[in-house]
Amino acid sequence: MKNLWTTAALVLAAAGAQAQTPDALYLKSLAATCANCHGTDGRAVNGSSVPTIAGMPREYLLTQLKAFKAGTRPATVMHQLSKGYSDAQIEQIAAYFAAQKK
Ligand code: HEC
Repeated sequence: MKNLWTTAALVLAAAGAQAQTPDALYLKSLAATCANCHGTDGRAVNGSSVPTIAGMPREYLLTQLKAFKAGTRPATVMHQLSKGYSDAQIEQIAAYFAAQKK
């Protein structure tokens, strides 16, 4: 019986360690909208024609996303997509992908 409680305590502790704040989950869900094309966490699959965006400098990502949104950088799909995000969300998305490993 003692072992069962120890196990339960360990399971609960592990679950707690993985708990994510609502902010972190929100950011992950924003970034997940890019995964269809750019790959999980921005790492495109080998041979993909869509660029990997994981680990790009934050400033670069920010500039590109704003240029897509403004229509000043030529694109096929990124114009439509980037218009769906507020400037604050674009800032958060840029920081998220900049923090990912390449
Ligand atoms: C439907 C597929 C698709 C989705 C979804 C998508 N992208 Fe893209 N992305 C592209 C393509 C294709 C390009 C190349 C430019 C173009 O043709 O629009 C691109 C280009 C980019 C670039 C420029 C990369 C470089 O090398 O300069 C960035 C940055 C980028 N996307 C970020 C994002 C972010 C952030 C999201 C999520 C909010 C996202 N994309 C969602 C398809 C997609």
